[in-house]
Amino acid sequence: MLSRRLDVLGDGPFARIATLLDGIPPNPSKAVLDLSLGEPRHAFPDFVGDILHENRALLGRYPPLRGTPEFRQAAAGWLNRRYALPQDFIDPDRNLVILSGSREGLFLIPQVVVPDPGSHPRAAALIPNPYYPAYAGAAVSAGAEPVFVDADPAQGHMPDFAGLPTETLDRTAICYVCSPANPQGTMAGADYLEVLIRLARKHDFLLAVDECYADIYDSTPPVGALEVCANLGLGLDNLVVFHSLSKRSSVPGLRSGFVAGDARVIDAFVQLRGYAAASVSLPVQAASAALWSDDDHVESARQSYRDKFDLAERELAGKFEFYRPQAAMFLWLRTGDSEAAATALWQNASLKVMPGGYLGNGDKHPGNDYVRLAMVTDMDSTADALQRINSTLS
Ligand SMILES: Cc1ncc(COP(=O)(O)O)c(C=O)c1O
Repeated sequence: MLSRRLDVLGDGPFARIATLLDGIPPNPSKAVLDLSLGEPRHAFPDFVGDILHENRALLGRYPPLRGTPEFRQAAAGWLNRRYALPQDFIDPDRNLVILSGSREGLFLIPQVVVPDPGSHPRAAALIPNPYYPAYAGAAVSAGAEPVFVDADPAQGHMPDFAGLPTETLDRTAICYVCSPANPQGTMAGADYLEVLIRLARKHDFLLAVDECYADIYDSTPPVGALEVCANLGLGLDNLVVFHSLSKRSSVPGLRSGFVAGDARVIDAFVQLRGYAAASVSLPVQAASAALWSDDDHVESARQSYRDKFDLAERELAGKFEFYRPQAAMFLWLRTGDSEAAATALWQNASLKVMPGGYLGNGDKHPGNDYVRLAMVTDMDSTADALQRINSTLS
């Protein structure tokens, strides 16, 4: 009865960490601290609750699939401000659709570009390794072969998709890029993105750039793929980008993001959503429009991550190949065997972290030697967690 299609991937990282720590008690003298999940816990603006309340009567209506005009204008307005895009580069009616969180779109998008399962040769989905789990689940569910490409620390943790054999590129249906990258906190440069934008057109695949951490950065705003296209005088062919309020506005429970790019893909995606019914309620759309229109609250979130990375730099510089991430919200520490490090931190220090080994595919991949810490809690517990790492692993 069950399809077992996802069995090729096995359990996801959170199921694996539960299995790893099952039956191992934390240290009874320390309160449990969980930094395994990238769930921002900063305060979000008060106006979110007010707008949800003011618009509650709209829960009696089915929402439009593409998003309300107000939402699309606000999201396009943010793209224009954030990336200094030329006027009319993004048409909010044709190039943009609201998502129930960016994961929903990242998961569904291969369905509109992967050819029928029986087609030959089998379609490939290119995925960075390590990766955000939705990419692989999406590829396999759509019937594509996931092709994992190592994100080599020596190359800025960005995978060399352009170096793949022509045979693979020719059968590629979709290529996922994560920039800023989860888990490594590095970001793709304009040159890197340009190569991929041109490669996608040459081999006619969809370049799907996950930019959900675009606004959480240290000193330099990450370059966006739309910006690169605009600066090169190129249109939006074969490109979509994904954005989210979960990280930018610290509202992961709101479930609100959007996808923007190639109008042909957006149209096909809206058609798919007509069947999938993954719509976003009107009060959430109203609150989301207000969040995309406001940049002040984001600066305070950014500052709070900077303060925590300052602390981490003081505590960990020179250890675990510490580097200060350019963007996103994670520390990516080279501890050696990631399962052993995560188990020791749990058992001795009641600290839950994500073994990097669980974020990648294959027996040997670049994540195996790292653990990921989500810097999502307040300063005091961050300081506490850093000390626990030092005393357990140093
Ligand atoms: C790289 C990456 N992409 C996408 C998402 C999904 O975010 P959301 O569905 O909340 O927008 C996450 C969440 O952790 C993420 O880390």
